[in-house]
Amino acid sequence: VSELPAPLRWRDGALEILDQRRLPGAEVWLRCATWRDVAEAVRTLAVRGAPAIGIAAAYGVALAAPGERSVAAAGLKAARPTAVNLAWAVDRALAAADPLREAEAVAAEEAARCEAIAAAGAALVPAGARALTICHTGALAAGGPGTALGVLVRAHREGRLREVVACETRPLLQGARLTMWECMRLGVPARLIVDGAAALLMRRGEVDLVMAGADRIAVNGDTANKIGTYALAVLARHHGLPFYVAAPGSTVDPAAADGGAIPVEERDPDEVLRIGAPAGARASNPAFDVTPAELITAWITERGVVRTPPLP
Ligand code: MRU
Repeated sequence: VSELPAPLRWRDGALEILDQRRLPGAEVWLRCATWRDVAEAVRTLAVRGAPAIGIAAAYGVALAAPGERSVAAAGLKAARPTAVNLAWAVDRALAAADPLREAEAVAAEEAARCEAIAAAGAALVPAGARALTICHTGALAAGGPGTALGVLVRAHREGRLREVVACETRPLLQGARLTMWECMRLGVPARLIVDGAAALLMRRGEVDLVMAGADRIAVNGDTANKIGTYALAVLARHHGLPFYVAAPGSTVDPAAADGGAIPVEERDPDEVLRIGAPAGARASNPAFDVTPAELITAWITERGVVRTPPLP
């Protein structure tokens, strides 16, 4: 059992990112010396997960010369559209007298929020529970212990969680590569399934709850998260299982009244096609979906457990 590295670090005037594209095969630190380097790292998922891209982008503002900070802020925000943490953290760094200190503050606050989320959420996990999750929501996605996965790791340490069931998360396999890597490093029992196996496992009684993260939560509770999350919420409802969302307050968008206001990132179709589709085949690649609030049992934030929107 070991602790996990932080997703990024500030070294010698540059931001170093633990390249999540290379994990679990290699632990490679990517050096970003300019805000454009940071924007590219966010766009290409070297760093990913809603809180982590916000923290990285705040450091990106700090890397820009004072005269180009507004341009940098716009460029960093454009790197990925769905996670509101990105724009929120960029705006904080942009408004600060010292963007570097503000980026450090954002990183420290997000880690503290994740600790509070883990403490509040672990109490929702019944003894012996097997928890299904999707994508990757651990330390590398958020700092601190992470969000949804942080809750599950804490529940395991408290002796309640029996097993994490990790959806592989097509097309980029954040579940297979990152959730499994973190669970194995932390000594948390985990089992990997293909996304399409979730229904069968629920039917067989092998899942007791679903715990997901979020990229943007509307005021009415509608929640954007990795593509496939909505399907899990529908399945959970059908099988009578609780469906929880764990996320910091920085993921709540006060300007989004409901899920219709949340932009869904459409990524390169090649991410879907490259496993072996015929040359010339077409594909859609929405990276997120929006789960309606009525399918969500509760939201876990640093303020505690919210069962009835509006979210703060
Ligand atoms: O495309 P990704 O890998 O950035 O998607 C990440 C997710 O969907 C996570 O569930 C979300 O950002 C929460 S991370 C704590």
